[in-house]
Amino acid sequence: MGLFRVIPKLLHNRVVMAGAAPRHQHILRNAGPRFTVVPSRFQENLSKASSPTPFPWSMETAKQKALEGVRSMHQKHGKAVEDADGNPTVQSLPPTVILELIDGFKVSKALFTACKMKVFDVLRDEAPLSAADVARKIDASEGGTGQLLDVCAALGLLDKTEGGYSNTPLATLYLLSDGECSLHSYVMIHEEVIWPFFSYLDFAVQEGTVQGQRALGTAGRTTIRYHPVPEGSGHSGEDQYQESFYQNREKKLQFMRAMHGHTKVAARQVSTAFDLSGFTSACDLGGSTGALAYELARQCPGLKVTVFDLPEVIEDAVCFQPHGPQTGQVSFVPGDFFRDTLPEADLYILGKVLHNWPDDKAHQLLSRISRSCKPGGGLLVVEMLLDEDKAGPLPAVLMSLNMTVLFQGRERSLSEYRSLLQAHGFTDVRAVRTGTILDAVLATRA
Ligand SMILES: C[S@@+](CC[C@H](N)C(=O)[O-])C[C@H]1O[C@@H](n2cnc3c(N)ncnc32)[C@H](O)[C@@H]1O
Repeated sequence: MGLFRVIPKLLHNRVVMAGAAPRHQHILRNAGPRFTVVPSRFQENLSKASSPTPFPWSMETAKQKALEGVRSMHQKHGKAVEDADGNPTVQSLPPTVILELIDGFKVSKALFTACKMKVFDVLRDEAPLSAADVARKIDASEGGTGQLLDVCAALGLLDKTEGGYSNTPLATLYLLSDGECSLHSYVMIHEEVIWPFFSYLDFAVQEGTVQGQRALGTAGRTTIRYHPVPEGSGHSGEDQYQESFYQNREKKLQFMRAMHGHTKVAARQVSTAFDLSGFTSACDLGGSTGALAYELARQCPGLKVTVFDLPEVIEDAVCFQPHGPQTGQVSFVPGDFFRDTLPEADLYILGKVLHNWPDDKAHQLLSRISRSCKPGGGLLVVEMLLDEDKAGPLPAVLMSLNMTVLFQGRERSLSEYRSLLQAHGFTDVRAVRTGTILDAVLATRA
């Protein structure tokens, strides 16, 4: 159990295992982080006499083992491996990380393909299954399926035994298309939309523009059409993208499911990041399916939450209603937060909304919220927080690039949120890094 609390902290770091025990590797692989093994030569011969209980002895042994492993990463047989000028060599600084980065796209594409072909759904219904059985069920070649399943096993998404393949707990929790915390639609958005956009990253960087026309406008690349809007029409890349998404009900539901899953996995940590018990009403602007609203209602039984979103989203939000008493606290109101009167509330919420826009549009929205929010009211912003130097954490930096390429939006640091929010009369701007995929920033209307 303790391991699962540590895993989120490991996911975006380089993880080195100081022991080579297959069982430990299996556990870590199933839990998610990618790692390399550098077996430690520490003898594990510390005296037990100096420890009153086994725990401090195990801790010290683990520490010494790790330290020896770290030392041996830079040394071979006790001798530093550097060139005559003291520069690192391939022995002291192996190319493992670079090679992993090169392979990153293959890993993503294997995951996308397995999800698209519903491999994890097939193995939820019946497992273990041989590659031939899975191939038959997903209507694919046996050879190709076997390769894909082996990659999934190497990635910790499948277990492979003599009896065949089965889902690991990680796949069961997040990759089934209808799981409660499913990220399946989020994966599919990456396959169908983000992937084509990132194919034109060089153009996006060179031209500093969104690449919708190239990425989605080309024939046959995807079923989502991208409608170019004339310059000066006041429409942003995001308007065009969502308009084209929301014109097709299946694509709209896929987008809603993607947002739902992505928010749901962080909703508890976000809802409890601050003490919100002083608020009695909240309005989640662009709150989509209500994933955060329901969790807030669960955590704060005295809170009434209004989810405000575009009419085409609200009409299908009912598909995501959970069972439980908190549903009575949540209501849905259709509208456009740039044009319509905002519902009254003493806490406003913007979850993954500000990152869709550059500063000028963010200011427009914040100025409308500021006018609706009474003194003493709050504004909760839920996004991935960038470090102040904007060079980390990696998931936030990548999301920022993603938002730029798709919409000319971006992620922001706490000081950037502070100056945006202070410009609209919000003070006491503070942040909590939740340790999950979304962070929380709370400000008070002066
Ligand atoms: C990226 S999604 C985030 C959804 C949800 N807040 C979450 O965190 O999962 C942005 C949401 O803002 C909504 N939205 C975009 N423009 C809007 C507008 N002008 N008025 C109301 N909602 C809008 C979209 O429909 C979508 O549900």
